[in-house]
Amino acid sequence: MEKVVSLCKRRGFIFQSSDIYGGLSNTWDYGPYGVELKNNLKRSWWKANVYERDDTLGMDAAILMHPRVWEASGHVQNFFDLKSDCRDCKKRFKGADLIDKNKCPECGGALTEQRPFNLMFKTYQGPVEETGNEIYLRPETAQGMFVNFLNILDSRHPKLPFGLAQIGKSFRNEITPGNFTFRTREFEQMEMEYFVRPSEADKYYKSWVEERFNWYINLGIKKENLKKREHAKDELAHYADSCTDIEYNFPFGWSELEGIANRTDFDLKQHAESSGRDLKYFDDALKERFYPYIIEPSGGVDRAVLAFLVDAYNEEKVRDDTRVVLKLHKDLAPTKVAVLPLLRNRPEIVGLARTIARDLKKTLVTVYDDTGAIGKLYRRQDEVGTLYCVTVDVKSLEDKQVTVRERDTMQQERIAIEKLKEYLSNKLIS
Ligand code: GAP
Repeated sequence: MEKVVSLCKRRGFIFQSSDIYGGLSNTWDYGPYGVELKNNLKRSWWKANVYERDDTLGMDAAILMHPRVWEASGHVQNFFDLKSDCRDCKKRFKGADLIDKNKCPECGGALTEQRPFNLMFKTYQGPVEETGNEIYLRPETAQGMFVNFLNILDSRHPKLPFGLAQIGKSFRNEITPGNFTFRTREFEQMEMEYFVRPSEADKYYKSWVEERFNWYINLGIKKENLKKREHAKDELAHYADSCTDIEYNFPFGWSELEGIANRTDFDLKQHAESSGRDLKYFDDALKERFYPYIIEPSGGVDRAVLAFLVDAYNEEKVRDDTRVVLKLHKDLAPTKVAVLPLLRNRPEIVGLARTIARDLKKTLVTVYDDTGAIGKLYRRQDEVGTLYCVTVDVKSLEDKQVTVRERDTMQQERIAIEKLKEYLSNKLIS
């Protein structure tokens, strides 16, 4: 884990937030490579869950919602963790993490009794800070889809089963954030709300568990590092009838990447009652009106990025050297191609390399680098997971060919410059 954290900072994947002010604890900023990796991950999710299906629609709801949403959803009443404070060192602990409920695990001091602590962030809307203006930062993106159920039915007329997909920020005032980007107070979620006939809920719940598990595997996570874990009844969130977590074998232990829950008709019923609007669905085929059940695969973007980074991190012995290489899936790698001139003091070589890079940039994420010897340039690209290095040398000026080196095998091939774009595109475009 330390090696991954260090690589993230050193090479510009992830930085501590507000670093020059000493950092805001457990808050992270994505740097140039981090934002590409994160965007690629979100794009892969969107492709699999929206573009490649014909039963889902995308949307993007606001983070701020009417405060009554969170009363109806049950978050005001139920979205609590139990916390205890140490009377001596004043540190705060999550009740579930405490082995001895009376003794501070840090200093041994006495702990206060466990008290419920609502995890929602509160703020004020408008210039007056008074109770009537209190609103929340959403703790899940899901509610934005439930409250738009009618708008979607009226505008797009989807038939059951159908899903709404959304990616966006959520906020939780976690008592014990930690493990780098694993548990933070501001994070992104990728959520699907899949509306089904109640009688088919179990079937779709099971198929979504498989679908989501395979998504991680297809994007390169090692199978032995991924498992499913079904929740016991006393673990379930207040809205869920059943839930299966997909867990990753992080260096700090098996931990949740994503949860797939059967939310039943809880949410639509609650919002119908609370808003007074009719949120029942009329099923043409069955000639019945009912509240659909909702199957919800809900994953964390930041957790997935962390899992893919950890899983892709490799150290390999190459002759007397150690090569650090991020073996990220081609769809996830932040940079696809690096163009490197073998001799940076030869203007014709540099000129040709720059021209090739400029041309490739139009279709593939490509960088140009001439700031070191070739061995060093290769290592630098390996560390950030760049898939192909294209080297321009003296011979390239005559035979109009370049050397293409593949990241994982380090195998090299001479390719004609005029065929290069087609060659790389064939390898890289899914
Ligand atoms: N709408 C359902 C829901 O929000 P959840 O299990 O609480 O369910 C879903 O959250 C996913 O969101 C988790 O599996 C995790 O990947 C991510 N997540 C939740 N809390 C998080 C946090 N504090 N930091 C980072 N990711 C978080």
